[in-house]
Formats: sequence, C-alpha cells, structure tokens
Amino acid sequence: MSNSQTSPRRALITGGASGFGLGIAEAMLARGAQVAIGDIDPERLQDAERGLDSDNLLVIELDVTSPKSTAAAVAACEERFGGLDTLVNSAGVIAFNPLEEISEAEWDWVLDVDLKGTFLCCQAAAALLCASGRGRIVNIGSDAAKVGFPLLAHYCAAKFGVVGLTKVLAGELAPRQVTVNCVCPVGVSGTGMGQAILELKTEATGMQPQEILAATAADIPLQRNPTVQDIVNAVLFFISDEAAFLTGSALDVDGGMLSTIPVPGMEV
Ligand SMILES: NC(=O)c1ccc[n+]([C@@H]2O[C@H](COP(=O)([O-])OP(=O)(O)OC[C@H]3O[C@@H](n4cnc5c(N)ncnc54)[C@H](O)[C@@H]3O)[C@@H](O)[C@H]2O)c1
Repeated sequence: MSNSQTSPRRALITGGASGFGLGIAEAMLARGAQVAIGDIDPERLQDAERGLDSDNLLVIELDVTSPKSTAAAVAACEERFGGLDTLVNSAGVIAFNPLEEISEAEWDWVLDVDLKGTFLCCQAAAALLCASGRGRIVNIGSDAAKVGFPLLAHYCAAKFGVVGLTKVLAGELAPRQVTVNCVCPVGVSGTGMGQAILELKTEATGMQPQEILAATAADIPLQRNPTVQDIVNAVLFFISDEAAFLTGSALDVDGGMLSTIPVPGMEV
C-alpha cells in the first residue's frame, strides 16, 4: 500500500490466519506493507506464516474478545513497526440455530467475537491510528449486517452492530484523520467460515456442494459467486489513498444481490 508519495502502511489484521484476513495480508505484503496477522488459532497462524513467508510479517496469537490480548497485540505492532496506521477487523465466528435453541453461551460467543472483538481492537489501536495522521479502520461486516437471515439472530445482531459501530467511530475519529468503513460480503465459500457453511447446507439439503454453489450463483444478479479476491479488493480500496475522503460507509460486495428483488413474471 504505497505509492511515490506515501510510505508503506503498517497494519494489524485480525483473523489474519485464514480467509479474507489472510488474503488481505498477502495483498498488503505484496504492496510493501508491514503486516501483523492476529488470530486465535495457532495452527492456522503457523500455516499462514509459512505461506506468506515475508520479513515484513509479524505473527501474533490474539483473542479479540480479551482487552489484555488486544492491547498486547497493538503493543507488539508498535514495537516492531514503530506505529500503526491500518486496522482490519476480520476475526469472526458464526453459528446457526433457531431462536429457541440459541443458548446464552452461544449468543455471548458470537457477540463477543464479532461485535465486542471489533470494538476492543478499535479501542486498543485508536491512539496509534490517530497518531499516524492517516489512520484506516476496515471492519468486515456481512450481508447479514443489512438483512435478517433465519437462524442467525446472534450473527445478524452482531453484524448490524458492526455497521453501527463503524458509523459512530467514523464520526468520532474523523477529526483525527482516521477513516472507518465496513465491507459487507455475501457468502464466499473459499474461506474457513464459507466452507463450514457450505458443509452445513450440504447436510441440510442433501445437495452436492457444486449444486448449491450453482444455485447461489444463479440468485446473484451478476450471475456468479464472489471470490475471496472480490472482498480483498474492496478492503484494499478503503485502505488506499484514493479512498481518503470516504468514511462511515458499509459497502455491499454482493454482485447486486441486496439492491434488487426479482419480480415473478418480470424476469429479464
Ligand atoms: N465467508 C463468508 O461467507 C463471509 C460472508 C460475510 C462475512 N464474513 C465475515 O468475514 C470475516 C472473516 O471470515 P472468513 O470467511 O475469512 O472465515 P475464516 O474462518 O476463514 O476466518 C476467520 C478467522 O477468525 C479467527 N478467529 C475466530 N475467533 C477469534 C478470536 N476470538 N480472536 C482472534 N481470531 C479469531 C479464526 O481463527 C479464523 O482464522 C468474519 O468476520 C465473517 O463473519 C464471511
């Protein structure tokens, strides 16, 4: 993330050992950034470290639900990079259950990782992001941050909350030149969470994964499923100098899905 005018970015990416977080880390490293990946899963972190294989990489075991852990992760970034100007909140979990069957523990787990974790990381990183004079926060929301999906009361509540948090922090941090935006993808099968969802759908419907993917692609106006790279591209845009005047947005990366409703008998 550099050009002739600006120095390389210094980033912390939560959930950085897998899926979108890993894709964002790879893309930022390729652009010369210094990147810390923070993740709760040590095995995934080891694999990611091997795969990314970069001197500009810092690997941090991080639990986003713990204020102590988030503070330590930010301190490690400051020590290694001398500061921080980019935070990507990609750590996330999901569970599917009807209202009556969501236990308090399951509700707390999803809200703690997806919403409180985002808040804690923003809070921990805020001072360094402000000090950089060009801070960027990009939160990963979801289509479930815009629409209510059955069986996802906790996940939707958390992701709607992430959009709310994005807008509040955009206003609070704007005077200190930190932008705060959110990227809201529809389902992407090429991540850990995406694979788990596909397996659940396979079990529930008896359909083959390829049939399910064909059906979801057919429902998307642009007629294909999103790739990890589609989401990485949106995050890179918010981090770029070109997006310096954008803050408080929650961008749908959805192939048009949430913008149009097909009308029976009026198909194109
Ligand atoms: N894949 C999709 O279809 C999809 C769609 C919309 C939004 N999202 C969101 O994208 C984000 C990234 O998910 P993904 O699809 O790349 O899945 P993923 O499972 O590949 O990545 C999520 C990462 O978060 C880490 N994590 C979980 N709990 C953590 C904790 N307490 N502290 C630190 N790290 C933790 C996991 O170990 C994992 O490496 C999530 O916020 C998810 O809700 C995913």
